[in-house]
Amino acid sequence: MDVEALRADTPGTAHRIHLNNAGAGLMPRPVVEAIKEHIDLESRVGGYEAAAERQEQIGAAYRAVADLVGAHPSNIAMQENATAAFNAALSAVPFAPGDVILTTRNDYVSNQIAFLSLQQRMGIRVERAPDAPEGGVDVEAFGKLAHRLGPRLATITHVPTNSGMIQPVVDIARACADRGVPLLVDACQSVGQLDVDVAELGCDFLSATGRKFLRGPRGVGFLYVSDQALERGWEPLFPDLRGADWIDPDLYQPRPDAARFENWEFAYALVLGLGAAARYALDLGLPAIEQQVLHLGKALRERCAALPGVTVLDRGQRVGAIVTLHLAGHDPLAVMELLRTRGINTGYATREAAVLDFDDKGVDGALRVSPHYYNTLDEIDRFVDAIADL
Ligand SMILES: Cc1ncc(COP(=O)(O)O)c(C=O)c1O
Repeated sequence: MDVEALRADTPGTAHRIHLNNAGAGLMPRPVVEAIKEHIDLESRVGGYEAAAERQEQIGAAYRAVADLVGAHPSNIAMQENATAAFNAALSAVPFAPGDVILTTRNDYVSNQIAFLSLQQRMGIRVERAPDAPEGGVDVEAFGKLAHRLGPRLATITHVPTNSGMIQPVVDIARACADRGVPLLVDACQSVGQLDVDVAELGCDFLSATGRKFLRGPRGVGFLYVSDQALERGWEPLFPDLRGADWIDPDLYQPRPDAARFENWEFAYALVLGLGAAARYALDLGLPAIEQQVLHLGKALRERCAALPGVTVLDRGQRVGAIVTLHLAGHDPLAVMELLRTRGINTGYATREAAVLDFDDKGVDGALRVSPHYYNTLDEIDRFVDAIADL
């Protein structure tokens, strides 16, 4: 990987050490250009007219996103963000009171809140499979629960927001497929970081966002919907005039493809930016990205672990590019803000983002440091020096 060329293509690397890719990655030039060009066109010819002129490029954006996860474009629905994508999928599952959602202790905070809301309103039961001793969900226990409880839906967050752990999502997918349990995967932190393939997963839905490791813009995400889910007739609870046709006074017909999960109004500039980001990642190659990102994550973790007063919190059989740290005697938010004044971008997670995980670890927050392939070992050293200075 030609890191220097990639940095030259990434304006933000000239000014800052950006280690907050789990928050939002730095957009490369082609992404920025795709967005600006479309906004410019909209200002010159009109918003609807610009979308009509760019139909071919918009189609190419769907193809790029589909290629990114090994899907067909007709299985991709554009969304405003990962949460909207996840909730659209969740709303399509025909839950009845007493149904079980089987999940893990590390699923994303907003997903957990949505499950609890369903529990309150509809009498759904939320069951969380236990973790394995080394961290990450216990696949065997998950399989047994799937067998015993016959959940209406299983869901798993591939890479949580609050730790570098990579869940054994392929094994979980197999456990679900063996028992005919539909699976919704939150791949928000893994798409663009890891080589994610929906054919390998065989999941029913997969949700993701544009702005993180994929390096797309803020305000856009996508949902993969399998043929199986479409054939079952699953559709979002509130389809709009893009997702469905109103064909008689008391009858509507959902679109045959994943577009039934879309809303009519789109920020097409962002869709084109997302497409450019997906193409950029594909051109680099997801296996190469994964290798480089994991290498930097490992180097960062090792260097941090050697610092006195610093505890690396990440657990699990496999860990990725999100590194979470407990800094004895320091508030992670204050550290993040201080580092920002020194030109180093990081993130932080509060207990509210990970009640189960952080309570297990006995911490009430963590500094979150997340390099990408365009970061250098020198930048990592400079971050480590800044922490040592504290
Ligand atoms: C694992 C995970 N899932 C979902 C989300 C939500 O993504 P969005 O903010 O695009 O809705 C996040 C955001 O941090 C995340 O880390």
